[in-house]
Amino acid sequence: MHAPIQNSEVAALHESPVLPQIEFSSVTKTYGKVTAVRDLSMTVSRGEFLTILGPSGSGKTTTLMLLAGFEAPTAGDILIAGRSVAAVPSYRRDQGIVFQSYALFPHLTVTRNLEFPLEMRGINTAERTTRVRRMLERVHLSDLGGRMPSQLSGGQQQRVALARALIADPPFLLLDEPLGALDRNLREQMQIEMKSLHKEFGITTVCVTHDQEEALTLSDRIVVMRAGRIEQTDSPEALYDRPATRFVAKFLGEANIFENHNFKIESEAEQPSGTVAMIRPERICIVATDAGKRGDGDLRQFVTGIVDDMIYAGPLRKYHVRVGSSVFIVREHVAARQPIFRPGDGVCLNWLRSDIRFVAT
Ligand SMILES: Nc1ncnc2c1ncn2[C@@H]1O[C@H](COP(=O)(O)OP(=O)(O)O)[C@@H](O)[C@H]1O
Ligand SMILES: [Mg+2]
Repeated sequence: MHAPIQNSEVAALHESPVLPQIEFSSVTKTYGKVTAVRDLSMTVSRGEFLTILGPSGSGKTTTLMLLAGFEAPTAGDILIAGRSVAAVPSYRRDQGIVFQSYALFPHLTVTRNLEFPLEMRGINTAERTTRVRRMLERVHLSDLGGRMPSQLSGGQQQRVALARALIADPPFLLLDEPLGALDRNLREQMQIEMKSLHKEFGITTVCVTHDQEEALTLSDRIVVMRAGRIEQTDSPEALYDRPATRFVAKFLGEANIFENHNFKIESEAEQPSGTVAMIRPERICIVATDAGKRGDGDLRQFVTGIVDDMIYAGPLRKYHVRVGSSVFIVREHVAARQPIFRPGDGVCLNWLRSDIRFVAT
């Protein structure tokens, strides 16, 4: 067992340079018969942007609620710098929180919303005014301090919510689907904004999302959750390029899984038992059947097929190609001089053998 931490020690512990700032140690949370989080262990390092990614109902919000202290683990422990925070109530955990519903105080102006956390910490009026002004500048809302939340766009409200979470310099920031209510363009803009805020403040951040793109864009590391358990933890690049399981391969992007195919997969590595071969759609080249083999032909595998479908998607073309009894997805960046294939065209698909991955079933 870990010694319980005293409230007064929380702030000091956040300073420890050696231990992971946050650690989940075999945490389980049940609600009646439902196990929302099952035997979850993970660490978050100082300054890290960690994203918990998973489908709806996989236990992401519960994990964040446990960390925030709004829920208590049924079993296991949560540690900050090596000490249990089981006895520390949420309002003493000193964290910045942003939820999907921005939860700004609707009856307070933007300025008053930002002042609130400072007031709670007993910071004097002059200091509050300075900090609010600086923060409003930082999030490009200097002209809107006098507005009520209802007079702001979704993106502006989200900026205020982030600013309010950051203004008291909390040791860590917890985000639950922070951009979920925004439309696509705004979401992308806010992703860039959040990344630059994270860089500037260097604040340890735990973010929950079901949006793969958001997770890939923002995170130093991603924890993929499935049915209350961690499926894989890795950097965005590693998760996408080397998914450990079929679930991760399919949840992060599209994957061609080699099943029921009528040819032998050529690969550089031996196929481990209990795995299936997988290749990402953008790793497959599509050429006319008579185009012949390329220069690096001895590194590649070639198969022939018939185009089922071509989907135009702006900068991308997506093909469905039937090879025997299986259908391959091929994704190709639109480039000049690239032939366009139509349904019924015979084509040759080829890929580097080194691009084949094996994922657990
Ligand atoms: N307060 C609660 N009471 C009962 N079941 C809950 C409660 N909160 C969450 N759950 C259940 O726990 C599981 C995980 O929920 P949640 O953590 O909200 O998932 P996510 O955020 O990944 O969508 C779901 O099956 C959900 O129905
Ligand atoms: Mg949730």
